[in-house]
Amino acid sequence: MTEQQWLNRLSEALLGGLNRAEGDPHRPGWHIAAPVGLLNDPNGFIQFDGRYRLFYQWNPLACAHGAKTWGQLVSDDLVHWQHLGLALAPTEDYERNGCYSGSAVDNNGELTLIYTGNVKYDRERRTAFQCLAVEREFGEFEKLGPVLDLPEGYSGHVRDPKVWWHDGRWWMVLAAQSEDGQGKVLLYRSPDLHHWQQTGVLAGSGEGNIGEFGYMWECPDLFELGGRQVLICCPQGLPAEAERYQNLYQCGWLAGELDWHSGRLAHGDFHELDLGFEFYAPQTTLDDQGRRLLIGWLGLPDDNEPAQPTRDYGWMNQLSCPRVLSWRQGHLYQNPVPELAALRGEVLRWQGLAVQAPRLQGGRAELELDVSGEVRIYLGQAAVLTLNADGLELRRLNWRSGEWESRRWRGQVSDLRLLLDSSSIELFINGGEATMSARYFPGANPEIRWGGAGEIRFCYWPLGSAWVE
Ligand code: FRU
Repeated sequence: MTEQQWLNRLSEALLGGLNRAEGDPHRPGWHIAAPVGLLNDPNGFIQFDGRYRLFYQWNPLACAHGAKTWGQLVSDDLVHWQHLGLALAPTEDYERNGCYSGSAVDNNGELTLIYTGNVKYDRERRTAFQCLAVEREFGEFEKLGPVLDLPEGYSGHVRDPKVWWHDGRWWMVLAAQSEDGQGKVLLYRSPDLHHWQQTGVLAGSGEGNIGEFGYMWECPDLFELGGRQVLICCPQGLPAEAERYQNLYQCGWLAGELDWHSGRLAHGDFHELDLGFEFYAPQTTLDDQGRRLLIGWLGLPDDNEPAQPTRDYGWMNQLSCPRVLSWRQGHLYQNPVPELAALRGEVLRWQGLAVQAPRLQGGRAELELDVSGEVRIYLGQAAVLTLNADGLELRRLNWRSGEWESRRWRGQVSDLRLLLDSSSIELFINGGEATMSARYFPGANPEIRWGGAGEIRFCYWPLGSAWVE
């Protein structure tokens, strides 16, 4: 489609679909969702000129994956976001099957996007180009075209460039599948964003000590935290184990030391980033307070997505809340950004036996809680948390199969924070030591109810809505 055709179809989709989407009781009040159509990965997360900019994979024309565009958003505080419409649409031959995921950098005052132009020849064969686009005076993005073709020895699955500045040059991590079907992360460097040279294979299946580890590592992100390099990536193709790798695709981190000359990351074990049902393709950025911020997609491709009830309202999927990363005692911690406290209404404090606790409005809400003994928290009729000596179990009603399913975190829960937003749950255990995220579809006005023989002490806040029109 030409740019003009995209604009026509987009206007039609928005004019016809916005009210319908807003009328959905499962529509988030303060998380990012697409105005209409399907959203997936967060892209181009950056603080530029003092404002947070965020882009996302967007098919505005259908609740299905397809030729992706980049939607764009801006915020001054990571809480109130404003939609700025389309940043990129696949109008050129080198991106004809989608402007796929990528990142943003501040190149001497020019906001520059680096993304994957995806090209499919047929069901089996495809190629990919890493491309540039630069923001111009009126907020429009001028495409500069491909700057990197497929590397030698890799299949057409090469995508998701994450670029940053370090030590006088640009660096890029790129997801790539080798010709023998192994997922890898490649490291590149460049003096100017236009000319790229491969430094080496950073990590991947069959590299270092990790063994066979999947056929594709999507959406890599590499950054320094607490004096070490952390690689976030999304390996596909790991067999499920008794209590690990329960989701269809994984999302996790590896930490270690990077040899900038060979491009190799000497890293420790792979850790799942989130132990819930839906968390994928996160992206980080460093802000001017020196915080490493992360936003992920509360979704997973190829799994339960097509059965989401929100499709009936013409929209699908949402992002996670923005989180701050920190490194403590050899582990990656995640916590919601403190700015989210701006959404809180009047606090309710309560302490006593769980079974005597008041029922609470559970649509948009936050709970901070200490627990002793066994406690159950019912979230409408669609999810239940059980806390006991084993740790925490999150059960939810699978909207595709109609069956209950569960995920666990094992350990001693000393404190718990729960963020709810219409159809999403985000749990932060022990000050961010572990997180569990999930979508659930409890209908309108779900209640929080309590059970179990244990005791609780909590602070509860109803949360406001955060959209800037
Ligand atoms: C991850 C992903 C990326 C790709 C994008 C396409 O969810 O598959 O690898 O760039 O989504 O929308």
